[in-house]
Amino acid sequence: MEKMSSFFTERVVGYDEHMLKNVYGCKEGYIEMSKLIPPSCNFLLDLGCGTGLELDEILKRMPNLDVTGIDLTQAMLDKLKLKHPDKSMRLICGSYFDVPFDEGKYECAISFQTMHHFSHELKLGLYKKIHQALTPKGMYIECDYMVEEQEEEDFYFAENTRIRKELNIPTNEFYHYDTPCTITNQIGLLKNAGFSNVKKVFRLENTTILVAYR
Ligand SMILES: C[S@@+](CC[C@H](N)C(=O)[O-])C[C@H]1O[C@@H](n2cnc3c(N)ncnc32)[C@H](O)[C@@H]1O
Repeated sequence: MEKMSSFFTERVVGYDEHMLKNVYGCKEGYIEMSKLIPPSCNFLLDLGCGTGLELDEILKRMPNLDVTGIDLTQAMLDKLKLKHPDKSMRLICGSYFDVPFDEGKYECAISFQTMHHFSHELKLGLYKKIHQALTPKGMYIECDYMVEEQEEEDFYFAENTRIRKELNIPTNEFYHYDTPCTITNQIGLLKNAGFSNVKKVFRLENTTILVAYR
């Protein structure tokens, strides 16, 4: 198991090609997400934006968006900036659990393939923060690795705990290990965080998109 930021720094070369060719459903998911951004959106918050594969598609449709991107890995943000030097982007290197969000600012917040590394508890706190960051009619769109069965989710979380214990990794440090949640649990967490209407709008293999309205 590698530290989250080192994991992505090591893989930044070839990252875009890997996601588009090898992670089933992502290529289609990036396009699908771009279609879901409301046309009235001025301010977009992208959590775990990485090299911005979702932004590549979104900015084709909406080149004038004002984007705030937050990511733990500076190397990923550097690549994103190189791809879109002329766009209005505020890129913050830090953890979205810690970086404060402007309240009531964003018509839309998104995340793509980043939330499947965290516990229910951490996600619930983050979803509440996202809820606060949205305008009254704002929406959050999450595309992530999700599973169908509770047994599958339980297996990955138990493995994560077992490996961390074996390697003496403190629980509060971010290491890269996939712990996908079930679609049902994801929807439940978003509703518990205050979102009024949450639905699944896309699924290809395990790549799933949920939309949640404030
Ligand atoms: C699989 S990549 C996805 C990147 C991009 N959204 C995409 O779909 O290509 C996951 C990203 O989440 C970032 N990340 C992981 N944990 C994070 C955290 N706590 N705060 C901010 N970014 C985080 C990683 O640095 C990495 O760039």
